[in-house]
Amino acid sequence: MYKNISLLGLQWGDEGKGKVVDNLAENNLDAAVRYQGGHNAGHTLIVDGKKVVFHLLPSAICHPNIQCFIGRGVVVSLDALFSEIDDAAEVLGNLEGRLTISSACSLIQPYHIKLDQLREQSNNLTKIGTTGRGIGTSYEDRVGRRSIRIADLYDESKLKEKITQALDFYNSIFTHSFGANEININELFDQNLQQAEKLKPYVGNVIEEIRNLQNQDKKILFEGAQGALLDISLGTYPFVTSSNLIGGITSGAGVSPSDVDYTIGITKAYTTRVGEGPFPTELFDEVGTYLAETGGEVGATTGRPRRCGWLDGLLLENMTRLSGVNGLCLTKIDVLDGLEKVKICTSYKSSKSFEELIETMDIEDVQPQYLELEGWSEPTAGITQFDDLNDNAKAFVEKVEEISGVPVIMISTGPKREDTIIRQQI
Ligand code: GDP
Ligand code: IMO
Ligand code: MG
Repeated sequence: MYKNISLLGLQWGDEGKGKVVDNLAENNLDAAVRYQGGHNAGHTLIVDGKKVVFHLLPSAICHPNIQCFIGRGVVVSLDALFSEIDDAAEVLGNLEGRLTISSACSLIQPYHIKLDQLREQSNNLTKIGTTGRGIGTSYEDRVGRRSIRIADLYDESKLKEKITQALDFYNSIFTHSFGANEININELFDQNLQQAEKLKPYVGNVIEEIRNLQNQDKKILFEGAQGALLDISLGTYPFVTSSNLIGGITSGAGVSPSDVDYTIGITKAYTTRVGEGPFPTELFDEVGTYLAETGGEVGATTGRPRRCGWLDGLLLENMTRLSGVNGLCLTKIDVLDGLEKVKICTSYKSSKSFEELIETMDIEDVQPQYLELEGWSEPTAGITQFDDLNDNAKAFVEKVEEISGVPVIMISTGPKREDTIIRQQI
């Protein structure tokens, strides 16, 4: 059995990662780690019949025996964190002693959120369709080597100096570039100090704690947020998020690249996307509407409707290879129940070769070519054994394996933890 498992979305996010984590967490998992992104994520779980959405906390936290970590690669909004901890406490009790946040995490400050939203509202800049949570702007400061990190909260003079420098910069942009109000330095400083006190019980040394668990041969899940096509480096730039998903575990959690011994890639049986950016297999017809309605495709963080389309086998195969995926989890196959025909894109018509296209991920103008498979009327919803699937659904799964080049080891047939077919334990 594997000890360091990476779980990664292979599309544009919302593949059903939260549900899959929840299922895996039942399987002798000892620890779970978030290592990139922030509260732009929205991971939905159905716990005892109730819908729960996690944004910043690892989704495995709802299992009481699992030790949870937020690694240095995550950008942390303390407002969002406390609101989530307080909500979770109502159901899960006190999380102190069970949640460790790296003191090296960069913070998302209110000025990051404000600038993200002002830019998105501006008519002069490329609209990305961000979640407006200050993710990209906080990562800009991280890469620019001027972040306020969690550790800085506990050195008052350094904190004051950093906030002063930051507001000199941001307030000038707010007023001069956007005609917006300034942020008050004293209020922000006091807010940071108050939050620092509340945060103290959770701050710790994530590298050391994970290493200790590894030395004890514990089973650890690295929970990727977003999806590979939103990767800052390998995704559909500039319509991406601002973190590295592929390969991000090393820098984001503080473990060696060779520690990960199994990568499970998550893909929906179709595709969705929130926000702007290319989406070759997007559907604008009644099938698109059917997928959106049947799949309940509304953003878990922003409530925006998700764009829907067929499964893109080309992108799936590429992201599977780039991410070193060993096995796939195919989610939401039940959403295809009742469709007469089911399609998978297997090539693009374009003046450029696929190799050229994926180098830049400039896939705006391609025309998808499809493989058409027979649909099925016999429902897959709620099925827990592969043998109980109808033949056409089985053929669909086998085609996904053929196209991606890796086995489908799990199939999700509904939103609940138990609506799952496990073909291989990991
Ligand atoms: P995440 O961001 O990858 O964790 O995914 P989201 O939670 O944003 O979106 C996935 C949505 O699909 C949620 O509403 C889940 O409850 C739901 N879901 C997950 N797996 C399945 C499935 O197999 N079938 C159906 N019908 N819904 C699912
Ligand atoms: P989970 O973890 C889907 C998208 C946004 C936008 C782009 C950049 O639930 O799968 P950002 O706020 O990150 O700067 O926005 O990335 N995006 C997501 N789309 N699921 C997510 O997370 C996403 N996180 C960011 O919609 O297009
Ligand atoms: Mg989501």
